Amino acid sequence: MNILVTGGAGYIGSHTCVALLEAGHMVIVADNLSNSKVDTLERVKEITGKEISFHQIDVTEEAAVNSLFAAYSIDGIIHFAGLKAVGESVEEPLKYYFNNTVSTMVLAGACRKYGVKRFVFSSSATVYGDNQVPFVEAMPLLPATSPYGETKVMSERILIDIAKANPDWSVALLRYFNPIGAHESGLIGDAPDGIPNNLMPYITQVAKGKLDKLRIFGNDYPTIDGTGVRDYIHVMDLAEGHVAALHKLSAGLHIYNLGTGQGTSVMQLVKAFEEANGIELPYEITARRPGDIAEYYADTSKAAKELGWTAQRSLVDMCRDAWQFEQRKSHDYTQ
Ligand code: NAD
Ligand code: WQD
Repeated sequence: MNILVTGGAGYIGSHTCVALLEAGHMVIVADNLSNSKVDTLERVKEITGKEISFHQIDVTEEAAVNSLFAAYSIDGIIHFAGLKAVGESVEEPLKYYFNNTVSTMVLAGACRKYGVKRFVFSSSATVYGDNQVPFVEAMPLLPATSPYGETKVMSERILIDIAKANPDWSVALLRYFNPIGAHESGLIGDAPDGIPNNLMPYITQVAKGKLDKLRIFGNDYPTIDGTGVRDYIHVMDLAEGHVAALHKLSAGLHIYNLGTGQGTSVMQLVKAFEEANGIELPYEITARRPGDIAEYYADTSKAAKELGWTAQRSLVDMCRDAWQFEQRKSHDYTQ
């Protein structure tokens, strides 16, 4: 199939491009490079030995998106393009609401105009809010904890209504848990600008000596050791989940959690990283981070049953690959 991947130069998008190319699909990437570099796509080509068509466009711009749809015979779209910094979304809500919801509407409009009926959307476990764990797809959604989270809920609602009005479309809402790690080659991975917001890139920068120590946000949660619990998933497992979704989707609306089903605490992740890589990580316990919830992980049974997909890679794989990418990045990356 010819698959349009919006945000394909980003962290999850680039790994999904690898998985799509390896599964024999043609990939067209649309990315405005606001949070990525075009070099990443060169690395995707190096890993796969395959070509990618790249277009530097903003997918909130209707004319640019329509030109792209007119130029290719697109069979399906995976919409990753979006802004994702939770804290920034609180400070600049309009930027987030505009970018993350207008992009979904513009792309859905182009699909309608050009007869594209497969739409896969990057949603997030954040749409569950502070629900009971494990999170199950059928749960009623609780209010999101940030404007970022609201943009995911709003995009989901828009796509749910579009799926209802167009029963011949296949719409998949994929709710990611916490993707970490990197491609096994060490060539692509998570490369945030500046001081990372998320735990694993912070850990790898401490391991590298770029940051002095890890700050663990709270050890008084009602969890196994008091630190926050999340469902970390290897980014290549997540990427393969998208390919499984594309292959299995029938007409209608489909919602899937993409996680491992295993909860891991911050302290357990620190220990796993130290053991996997033979590195000691300096850390201190600080106050809780506002907006964090104690614990969440996925019920993964629906994706296993309907997509035939389960995450295959271990926490050790995630820690080893994240560290390998950080080491390689310091040598190779133009940043
Ligand atoms: P990322 O920032 O690495 O990738 C997003 C890409 O989209 C970037 O390359 C950026 O340049 C591009 N982009 C943003 N706005 C655009 C626009 N208007 N037009 C064109 N390109 C645009 O982020 P990621 O971690 O790869 O996340 C991908 C998607 O998955 C996002 O929608 C994010 O909200 C969602 N998600 C991410 C996580 C996570 O923890 N990383 C978890 C759940 C959901
Ligand atoms: C994980 C755990 C922190 C950094 C975010 C978004 C979510 C989704 C994934 C997009 C928590 C702790 C972190 C640090 C720490 N993104 N931590 N020290 O917050 O679960 O999820 O990314 O959809 O919407 O909110 O991920 O990696 O920031 O935090 O102790 O320096 O690590 O408190 O328990 P989070 P994270």
